[in-house]
Amino acid sequence: MNALELAERFEAEFRTRPQVFSAPGRVNLIGEHTDYNDGFVLPSAIGFYTRVAVGVRPDRKLAIRSTKFAESYEFELISLPQNRLATWCDYVLGVAIMLQRAGYPLCGSTLLVDGEVPIGAGLSSSAAIEVATALALSNPPGKKLPLAELAKLCQKAENEFVGARVGIMDQFVSCLAQEGHALLLDCRSLDYEMVPIPTNVKLVICNTMVKHELSGGEYNRRRSECEQGVEILAGFYHDVHALRDVSQDQLLAHSAALPPVIYKRCLHVIEENRRVKETVRCLRLDDLQAVGTLMRESHRSLRDLYEVSCPELDIMAEAAEGLPGFIGGRMTGGGFGGCTVNLVEAVHAEAFVKAISERYRQRTAIAPETYICSPANGAGIELTA
Ligand code: GLA
Repeated sequence: MNALELAERFEAEFRTRPQVFSAPGRVNLIGEHTDYNDGFVLPSAIGFYTRVAVGVRPDRKLAIRSTKFAESYEFELISLPQNRLATWCDYVLGVAIMLQRAGYPLCGSTLLVDGEVPIGAGLSSSAAIEVATALALSNPPGKKLPLAELAKLCQKAENEFVGARVGIMDQFVSCLAQEGHALLLDCRSLDYEMVPIPTNVKLVICNTMVKHELSGGEYNRRRSECEQGVEILAGFYHDVHALRDVSQDQLLAHSAALPPVIYKRCLHVIEENRRVKETVRCLRLDDLQAVGTLMRESHRSLRDLYEVSCPELDIMAEAAEGLPGFIGGRMTGGGFGGCTVNLVEAVHAEAFVKAISERYRQRTAIAPETYICSPANGAGIELTA
């Protein structure tokens, strides 16, 4: 549903003309599980958006509806629930609560949410709904939040209200992405740079259809394993505050002090940070073959060292090999299901999705979904009242 259609639906139901805000999902080209280690990431927004239509209401209520789910929710603004309800509405509610806690006055509002980002596919449908909601709710009082602050607030909503200890990558790129570019983000300083993606290359996303669940324990466990690594290494080097601060030589020098699993997790993060910087360098030199090699290395590391892949992701990554126009690919996002991202020469993209779908279906008996994407713009207002 586009912004106009959503506004019409809103008007028909609530008899008032809404504003419509949108925020995109994302795909990460490289830099996986580095964001919460103060490291580097290189995501792009994709052209799937979540839209939130918002109308101000005279009472002090927050009403939340979706075009996709039947349930509707209504809360008093002065007594928003402080614990999650374990439904999609948590992403909206979490953002409303964080805005209130940060001192942003909320008006009585009706929200109608329409999401086109595939859910549970590792393409950040949650960041998209959070960011679009934050724009919708923070706009009317006129006190605008800078986008980087808005991204942090959305991350806080997911960390503290929804209960997933995610990093800043998804919310940040959903806010600040630019068409035609990947965004190199330093997750410590939040400094960022736009890196052009050649126009003759498509980001082909292949969905294994295995659902990934972030609030599930494995993601949070990986995060604690990294923290354990930091704690041990900080005993040797006082300026180590995150894995970002550890060099490969330092890790090797103290490998015996680390339990084997912790050592593997740390090694992935340290090498992955290097791969992100190297990928950016190669993109700037237009050396796409080298970018492809780095993406393959990243996949192997996520599979063998960080252990967040799954058989279906490995099959999908393998299935791309040898297809015409394929430059490189890897699993993308948190893992345990979801998608692979593939760089494919644009002229071959259609044939690529047909062939990879067939190969994947033969080996798994699952029909995958595929999306041929180009880097898209970040969040914004689509329709004023
Ligand atoms: C999820 C999280 C991100 C990031 C990735 C892994 O998408 O939301 O913050 O940690 O996993 O790179």
